[in-house]
Amino acid sequence: MDRLTGAVLEAGKLFREGFYATKDVRHKGTVDLVTQYDVAVENLLKESIAQILPEYTIIGEESADEHERAEKAVYIDPIDGTTNFVHKIPFCAISVGVWEDGKPVAAIVYNPVLNELFAAAAQEGAFCNAKRIAVSQTADLQQSLLATGFPYTKVEMGRDFRWVVKTMENLLPHTQDIRRFGAASIDLCYVANGILDGFYECNLKPWDVAAGILIIEEAGGKVTNHRGEDYRLGDPVIVATNGKNHDKLLEKLADYEEA
Ligand code: IPD
Ligand code: CA
Ligand code: CA
Repeated sequence: MDRLTGAVLEAGKLFREGFYATKDVRHKGTVDLVTQYDVAVENLLKESIAQILPEYTIIGEESADEHERAEKAVYIDPIDGTTNFVHKIPFCAISVGVWEDGKPVAAIVYNPVLNELFAAAAQEGAFCNAKRIAVSQTADLQQSLLATGFPYTKVEMGRDFRWVVKTMENLLPHTQDIRRFGAASIDLCYVANGILDGFYECNLKPWDVAAGILIIEEAGGKVTNHRGEDYRLGDPVIVATNGKNHDKLLEKLADYEEA
């Protein structure tokens, strides 16, 4: 864990330098951006993590297929929240999640701009800047502050878009409010430390959630798919809460398959 944290902090220096620098911005899709820093931070992390965990397959957003899996895998999102990074909104992070046999074992989410480092190891609790964190106690959905995100596929106006809009219509009046911060890994960590009472989103990729899932679970929260089953990487919807309002949130989500 210490060596992994060291590698992430080191990559964070390049991330922070990039945040304040002028960037080359390319499009991976209509509105899906990538900069030279996404690639450079990923390469740096891949080199250092390959030395720390040589028997693990490294699956990084900028160099791997989203369907790639391995018994022992490290999922890396070098910059989660690239749109924020490009616009200089300080909600973006490095996300590194270590998985074994379909279960998370170690996780780090680091926002080098705000200097917040979230970490968890299985059965050892969750921490932010070395202080123990725990989920909120809000059971009432109406008093729950939630976050969500919008998938890049929205531009196609297909199922994902319809699910986002229908869910917003069903859910928004029954919450305290809904935020869209722009970095799923941080959203998950903010559920873990009790700032948010829950989070949901469709079409997230393994590198977006591989770290945040363990951090929430170790902070006492709950992570499922839209059917209430244990979330597996690649499931179409993730629902992450303090556990107390989980079923009430599930009830208000639109049916993904029918959307
Ligand atoms: C995105 C962010 C965003 C979420 C998108 C993700 P990226 O990751 O996590 O909050 O809504 O679905 O793809 O592209 O900035 O690494
Ligand atoms: Ca991401
Ligand atoms: Ca990314």
